[in-house]
Amino acid sequence: MNSNAEINFIEIKLVNESYKIFFGKDYIENSAYYIKDFTKTNKIAIITDKNTANLYLNKISRSLLDNKYEVIHIILESGEKIKNLSSVENVINNLLEKRFERNDLIIGLGGGVIGDLAGFIASIIHRGVDFINFPTTLLAQVDSSIGGKTGVNTKYGKNLIGSFKQPLAVFSDTASLSTLPIREIKAGYSELVKHALIKDKELFFWLCKNWNVIFNQDKEITKAIKWSSKIKAMLVQEDVKERGSRALLNLGHTYAHAIESLLKYDGTILHGEAVSVGILLAYQTSYLLGHSKKDELNKIIEHFNDVGLATDLKKYNKNNINSDILLNAMNNDKKVKSGQKTFIIPQGIGQAFISNEINDEIIKSVIDTALAS
Ligand SMILES: NC(=O)c1ccc[n+]([C@@H]2O[C@H](COP(=O)([O-])OP(=O)(O)OC[C@H]3O[C@@H](n4cnc5c(N)ncnc54)[C@H](O)[C@@H]3O)[C@@H](O)[C@H]2O)c1
Ligand SMILES: [Zn+2]
Repeated sequence: MNSNAEINFIEIKLVNESYKIFFGKDYIENSAYYIKDFTKTNKIAIITDKNTANLYLNKISRSLLDNKYEVIHIILESGEKIKNLSSVENVINNLLEKRFERNDLIIGLGGGVIGDLAGFIASIIHRGVDFINFPTTLLAQVDSSIGGKTGVNTKYGKNLIGSFKQPLAVFSDTASLSTLPIREIKAGYSELVKHALIKDKELFFWLCKNWNVIFNQDKEITKAIKWSSKIKAMLVQEDVKERGSRALLNLGHTYAHAIESLLKYDGTILHGEAVSVGILLAYQTSYLLGHSKKDELNKIIEHFNDVGLATDLKKYNKNNINSDILLNAMNNDKKVKSGQKTFIIPQGIGQAFISNEINDEIIKSVIDTALAS
């Protein structure tokens, strides 16, 4: 067995629990070896989606079966559409029928959709069972697998039902990214670079020179993913329930969520694409408010263009969105507190702050400019 020569991990230390996020190349193939320290059960349910199952379910299961684990496979359709309560109920009934018990383990194998859904199920079945996550998209490795937010969507919006469920461990197998479509890699990159923009100027300038390590699956890919993950981990540790500073992770997301909701999550725009568009709009906002300089804004646009991230709101404007409609979508977001929208305003590169006081006229002018240019 080729176990990772150098075990690479970061640790999330919370008040009552802590866990490690491992980064390396052979976790899926040698899953039994890696999980054995975390569980005493011999029954494991793997929750995954069709695309991921086709590529990795045999690999992960082979290792478990060879090591005498009993394995239950739960394979869902792929995509955001399965992240709902009816999937939760179906999966739970399926697990109970297969006599999945209180001390058994759930493994999530897939992107953020599976991580959010499997983690949520693990938090409620039998009032909570052990959960280990094997994220297989870049977005899930740098973002959604870290911090314990789980949940499903409702017709009123994304992630409105959920829980905090910290896993026992996360195994980010970077080898799995070799099969990920380039569009999905770019979408995940938006969240990776977001962490640099809110907290770490050095990472941003490193990425400007080295972003290709992600797309070439270079050995430094682990360095980039780990570096970005560390920033998310730090913010989660400071504020696990998002009462304050964790919200910085929402840079670009007030714009992004409104864009996604207007496009009805139909695949026209991926979440990560809405995020890169949203980050640029947040920088425009910051520039108009005098918190970022023109050359900083230009540097970010240049980097996003180099990488080929989504930048152009107009390109996605198939429903004749205008600034009033977008603003209205922001106001209707169920996360809006007492009618106040929260914006993350970057301050140049590597710093940002949270504001509930951005004037609607500024937001409208940012959107109008983006749609006109
Ligand atoms: N919990 C959090 O803190 C948090 C943070 C950010 C995003 N999210 C959630 O994450 C979700 C988005 O995650 P995502 O972008 O990973 O989407 P996803 O899970 O839908 O995965 C994207 C696509 O890639 C496929 N796929 C997965 N791994 C693959 C691989 N290795 N090779 C080839 N194809 C593969 C999937 O089947 C899917 O079709 C959203 O629901 C979002 O709300 C949660
Ligand atoms: Zn996001």
